[in-house]
Amino acid sequence: MRKKIALIGGGQIGQILAMLAAQKELGDIVVLDVPPYENVCKGKALDLMEMAPHGNYDANISGTSDYKDIDGADVVIVTAGKPREAGMTREDLLSINIKIITDVANGVKQHAPKAFCIVVTNPLDAMVYVFQKVTGFPKNQVVGMAGALDTARWRAFIAMELGVSVADVAGTVMGGHGPDMVPLPRLTTVGGVPLEEIATKEQIDRLVTRTREAGTEIVKLFGKGSAFFSPAWSAIIMAESYLKDKRRILPCAALCEGEYGVNGLFLGVPCLISGKGIEKIFEIKLADDENAMLQKTIAAVTKTVQECKI
Ligand code: LAC
Repeated sequence: MRKKIALIGGGQIGQILAMLAAQKELGDIVVLDVPPYENVCKGKALDLMEMAPHGNYDANISGTSDYKDIDGADVVIVTAGKPREAGMTREDLLSINIKIITDVANGVKQHAPKAFCIVVTNPLDAMVYVFQKVTGFPKNQVVGMAGALDTARWRAFIAMELGVSVADVAGTVMGGHGPDMVPLPRLTTVGGVPLEEIATKEQIDRLVTRTREAGTEIVKLFGKGSAFFSPAWSAIIMAESYLKDKRRILPCAALCEGEYGVNGLFLGVPCLISGKGIEKIFEIKLADDENAMLQKTIAAVTKTVQECKI
């Protein structure tokens, strides 16, 4: 039997998620959104079914507003919520998206209690926290997608700056999904060569700043709404690592209970995603300046979570 992927939210990211999940044949796909968007989800699902002969995939893709249709899903990816508009921070979305995520969490708890759940909605570190609190799901089963995206951006900008293949750029970005996130130049390599040996300090500083502001750069260009291609693909590789037990190590917003001195918060940390979900969090020994940056992002995430009052 095919796996089942439930996409909660049929907007910009949701529709790209559906297309990527179909093309990768991850399983059957249900796209859920609240009325009056149900028909839009049905239309997008039908459009993707009609793309299958050229896309060369077999999958049942459907749209719905009824949580019964996600019964027994193996993976749930949550993008429901309001996206940013130009001039807004991710935190400006807090109150409206708390309510949406609470409703989603209740629906998922009832209908897909065994699913590996990937939350994408902003402000990410707070929304994944709310989702886990409301569902009460174990910590290996709930994760936030941010670090995979932030790291993709870090790698892309490095490749663009140095004129090299992005395939050869390896690195990681830790911390919260906001302007205080922590790209780690010391741990970044290009074809095995340390970044710090082939890029100048000025270049690296510029790349760090651009990565931290990457989401905002796109929001400014759009005027309304935020990025969708790269967030979707970032969530898909996390889902794929779970569904196929690929055991990828990716930075994810995971529930820390002691790691990095953090207790009870979701923070972007390197994780092993296997068929068990978040199987392991890696604790990297950080340099003093890196640790100082991490403390700053932890303070920012703590503040946003406290504002959730949950
Ligand atoms: C971004 C949004 C999705 O970083 O948070 O583009």
